[in-house]
Amino acid sequence: MVPSQFVTYKVAKKLFDLNVISRATFLSFVKEFAKVMKGLRKEATITVDWDAVRDMFDFDDYADVVPINAANLCPSFHAVQEYVNQMGIDMNKDVSIQKRTSVFATIIDDARALIAQQLNISTAELAFMRNATEANNIINNGLDFNAGEEVVIWSENHGTNNRAWAIRQQRNPNINIITVGLTGATTDQEVINRFVARVKPGVTRVVTFSEISNESGLRIPSKDLCSAVHAVDPNVHVHVDGAQGWGVLEHDLQDMGCDSYAASAHKWFLGP
Ligand SMILES: Cc1ncc(COP(=O)(O)O)c(C=O)c1O
Repeated sequence: MVPSQFVTYKVAKKLFDLNVISRATFLSFVKEFAKVMKGLRKEATITVDWDAVRDMFDFDDYADVVPINAANLCPSFHAVQEYVNQMGIDMNKDVSIQKRTSVFATIIDDARALIAQQLNISTAELAFMRNATEANNIINNGLDFNAGEEVVIWSENHGTNNRAWAIRQQRNPNINIITVGLTGATTDQEVINRFVARVKPGVTRVVTFSEISNESGLRIPSKDLCSAVHAVDPNVHVHVDGAQGWGVLEHDLQDMGCDSYAASAHKWFLGP
């Protein structure tokens, strides 16, 4: 039996009570969730039954692949995928505007509340995009620039961040793009110094970097870098691309002190 104190269970039960999901979907969730809880037992330290965890994925034992890299597209647990599929079917049974604006909105609001709590931000600060690419581009296109203003990027930023700034510059040739390289930097302080050396008060509008590089795996000291940049000029918008961070690191975005943060649910978070 699934322990009813778990928030995930409470959300599923609420959706069942509201008639958003069918009885069959709810019962299938309860069954799959019980397996998850069996796989993860919280004792003095968390002990993980890795065979049980592995069994939660739909890996094909006879395919010529070994799924060890979650950095691009990670498979969800079977239970998550089944739930998403089932909800799509439930939705097709009633796509009325009433259901969309009340019941389905409840699902989005519940997800927003859970994720905001996990990241320690308010629900109003959280927006769902289709992916980190779109989130990076919305930050990029949502800012206005005056001639001569500068954007400081890291050379290892993902193309969906750096390429987007190059395209933005083609449209606004008066924006300067400054690229920071970290070759040879061996300490957090050196990493911070390389960025801060390129920040000019009143001129730099944006500093943007990947929390963890998808190229080298280097982890930037995000909190210290955000505060070092803001110490030079509190008006600089610091955008952190967390596509390789969310789901694998603990996050408190208020504590990190960034101005915006983008991430992917379909990578380390193991979501849809
Ligand atoms: C650092 C980084 N940013 C952005 C992206 C793009 O992510 P998405 O698939 O969510 O658009 C990736 C994808 O691998 C990435 O590694």
